[in-house]
Parts: sequence; structure tokens; C-alpha cells
Amino acid sequence: MKAVVLVGGEGTRLRPLTYATPKPLLPIANRPFLERQLTWMAASGIDEVVLSLGYLPDAFRAHFPDDRFGDLRLRYAVEDEPLGTAGAIRFAAETAGIDERFVVCNGDVLTALDLSALVRFHDERDARATIHLVRVTDPSAFGVVPTYPDGEVKAFVEKPPPGQAPTDWINAGTYVLEPSVLERIPAGINVSIERETFPRMLEGRGALYALEHDVYWLDIGTPDKYRAAHLDVLAGAVGRPPVADATETEPGIWIQPGAVIDASTRLVPPVLIGADSAVGPGAYVARTSVGAGCVVGYGARVDGSVLLDGAEIGRASDVVDCIVGPDATIPEAGTVRDEILVADRPE
Ligand code: GDD
Ligand code: MG
Repeated sequence: MKAVVLVGGEGTRLRPLTYATPKPLLPIANRPFLERQLTWMAASGIDEVVLSLGYLPDAFRAHFPDDRFGDLRLRYAVEDEPLGTAGAIRFAAETAGIDERFVVCNGDVLTALDLSALVRFHDERDARATIHLVRVTDPSAFGVVPTYPDGEVKAFVEKPPPGQAPTDWINAGTYVLEPSVLERIPAGINVSIERETFPRMLEGRGALYALEHDVYWLDIGTPDKYRAAHLDVLAGAVGRPPVADATETEPGIWIQPGAVIDASTRLVPPVLIGADSAVGPGAYVARTSVGAGCVVGYGARVDGSVLLDGAEIGRASDVVDCIVGPDATIPEAGTVRDEILVADRPE
């Protein structure tokens, strides 16, 4: 089965991290997010994935130089201008010659959904399109999708005003589509599947269905959610170990090869220390993911944070709820709270 992954967005809410790296290639617990998504797809019977691109397409090509990821074949559909979610799906499907039912995923969703169960549900109802739904406490930031008892969609309301959502079940960003849906999408212009295609499919009955399946699910697209995704992955939300070569030395403490942690360092789970990183002496690292080749200096405190590869935390610094970008440095005795810090770019 083929799949389209929508990865054309600019990741504006994760700037400045996403100026250099597109959101799907940012790591979650030391593994690029997209690799996690592709692994999940391959395990559910997907054998070919079309990456629907617009922003920084060369970064994807460079990341997968053989156009493969394990057994998955990768193809690229690069838009000159953003075509919107539906326009992008149509363009990607045409580029890859998709002519049988296929899967579509938003490129920023981390989930433990049983994709095969979604496909079965779709087939059993003979649907044209099927949407995975999860339940959230504030549906107003999402597509809100009330359904009939058999799963047929009643309405699709993208981002309703706060307090006006008809249900707290929301579009989780994974779809099964029949190729006939592509004919409903005008070619070559910007079309939103959430605001145009899905609502129009409700003009007749029996075409659009949705599966309520309340599994682990997170849209990683904001700094808070990006940090939260790390803690969830370290806690085993999408399987164990959180990254292939990590060893659990104490409950919730994961260490990758070559990391050197001084015995006087205090680690409070969940914590991941990446390959060849050096931590301590006298450091305190809590609820934090540390990338490869990082340094956490003498007596530094790092809490609730994500350090990307090569980050350096100066002696006696105090870093809370931060994302420290690749090779960025926090100076000695620096205090930072709730920030994204990146390295100065070379002139
Ligand atoms: N190729 C391409 N072209 N991709 C695009 C385009 C485009 O023009 N526009 C958006 N995307 C990609 C983004 O990169 C992202 O992976 C996905 O489409 C969804 O876009 P977001 O910008 O992240 O949308 P959202 O999070 O506000 O809302 C969407 O996701 C929610 C679940 O997380 C909607 O699908 C909501 O209905 C849904 O609830
Ligand atoms: Mg999103």
C-alpha cells in the first residue's frame, strides 16, 4: 500500500529551529521525527511513501540519499507553490501514479494508531475516505468531527471558535482515501482537504467515515508539544527502547553508547543521554533529552529541556523548559527559561 506524507509546511511555530531543518527532520529523542513516522508506516504494510514537499526539499533528499528508508521506497513530490493539504495530496498522488486506495498522514503527528485497523474499518464500510479521530480537551485548534453511531461523519468543522466545538473528537491527521477522492480536488490550485474537500463530501451520504480511536497522539508542531513529545517517547508511548541503541540503566534513564556521566550527577527520569555526551560532575539533569556529543558542565541544572546534538551547557547554568539547538552554547552560569536557543550562524 502507498502513502502520502504531508511535509510541506514551514514549521513556523518552531522557528528558529525550522529555519535550517524542516520540522519532520527535527529529532524526537535523538531520532528524526520522520524516521519514527516511516518506521510506524512500514510496520503497517506501507511499502512506498510519497513525501509531499515544498519547504527545504533538498534537506529531505540529503537525508535519504538512496530514496529508501529500510524496505520503504521513497518518492518526492515538490510543489512550486503550496497547494494546500488537498492540492498537495492530488499532486503527490499524480506524481507517484497512485491508482488504488492509499493512506495520507500529516507530517507532524506522533501516534500509536493501529493503521491496519483504520484501513479495515474503511474497507468494511466501503467508504471513499476515512479519518482517524482522537479526543482532546481543547478541540478549537483542530478539525472537529462529529459522527453517527456507525462512524459516518456528520460534519467537519476546521478550527471552530473556542467553546463552539460540537464534540471533542478531532481529526488526528491520518486518512485512508480511495483514488476517486482525487477527482473531487481541482488541479493546480491551493485546496484545503479540511475546509473544502471533506465538507463537500458530506453533500451526499455514505462517502466519509471516521474511526474514533483514542490512542497515544500528539501534534509536535509547537515548542511545548515538541518538548512533551520527548518525555512521552522516553516514557514508552510509541514503544521501547525510545531509540534503538539506548540502554535503560535505571527505570526511565536511557543512555546511548559512549556517553560519560560523572557519578556525582543526579538524573531524574525520564532522561536520555545521547552518544558521546559528557555530563557533570555535580550536574542535575531532569526530564530531559540530551543529543549526541553534548556537554553539560560542572554543577549545571537542566530540567524539562531538549538539547540537540552538540549543544553545550556551561558550568553552573540553569536551563529550564528550553530547546537548545544543534551546537548552541549556554554560557557559564547562564539562566534560561522557556526559550528556543540556536547557535550563531557562521558569517
Ligand atoms: N505539501 C504540503 N503543501 N504540505 C502542507 C501544506 C501544503 O500546502 N500545507 C500544510 N501542509 C502539511 C504540514 O507540513 C503538516 O504536516 C500538515 O500538512 C498539516 O498542516 P498543519 O499546518 O500542521 O495543520 P494543523 O496542525 O494546524 O491542522 C491539521 O492537523 C490537525 C491535527 O494535528 C488539520 O488537518 C486539522 O484538521 C487536524 O486536526
Ligand atoms: Mg500540525
